[in-house]
Amino acid sequence: MSNMRRPLIAGNWKMNGLADESLRQVQDLGARVGKFDDPACDILICPPATLLREMARVAVGSSVKMGGQNCHAEPSGAHTGDISAEMLKDSGARYCIVGHSERRADHGETNAIVRAKAAATLRAGLVAIICVGETLEEREADKTLDVITEQVKNSLPAGATATNVVVAYEPVWAIGTGKTPTTLDVKAVHRHIREELSRMINDADRVRLLYGGSVKGSNAAELMAVENVDGALVGGASLTAEDFWPIVKTCI
Ligand code: 13P
Repeated sequence: MSNMRRPLIAGNWKMNGLADESLRQVQDLGARVGKFDDPACDILICPPATLLREMARVAVGSSVKMGGQNCHAEPSGAHTGDISAEMLKDSGARYCIVGHSERRADHGETNAIVRAKAAATLRAGLVAIICVGETLEEREADKTLDVITEQVKNSLPAGATATNVVVAYEPVWAIGTGKTPTTLDVKAVHRHIREELSRMINDADRVRLLYGGSVKGSNAAELMAVENVDGALVGGASLTAEDFWPIVKTCI
């Protein structure tokens, strides 16, 4: 973690959460965060879009911000079932995750699509959390850094800066598996991402780089201490305030 970059601890709820329980969880998290006058990190929950507006309302005044998990590249139009970045903003989002590996795999999202969605996110005035990460097959074939280079180069939108984009490194094989890369591996990939960014944008040293994939209370401090890791993107362990709090606490 670096003093130069404000850490971001983000929860990605994926397709989980019904209203009553979710509102209780965000209230609980807000109450825990509320004990800190001036949190030293940004705290974000990306719930399903169905919960965004109400969760944002409950979180008002608590330093817990809301984000979307995906958006369409267009602002509006004939795209049944899709949601635009403008709609997410209108519902209380401040950020939007784009290019999550589950979207890349389940919905065939290419780097070009991810870039268009990231551009839409910026257009709507949201911060884009752009996800990259190798599969197990790619790692075993020693292609990790090449895959990351391709994803970073081709997923970042024009006009990306340290204030409007965050990059999340999520090795696909570490998501939901309880497995994490070694801290040396995380360090090597994060350094590589920062080097790639420095070829593309002026303030690359200020871009926040998150690690994601099986982050939990028991391994968060170790991962957050790795050079160039400026926060976490957390799935399963972000669903309850009780599990998320120890991760938030490593930065707050
Ligand atoms: P888990 O923390 O459940 O491994 O999920 C990580 C993730 O995909 C966050 O976007």
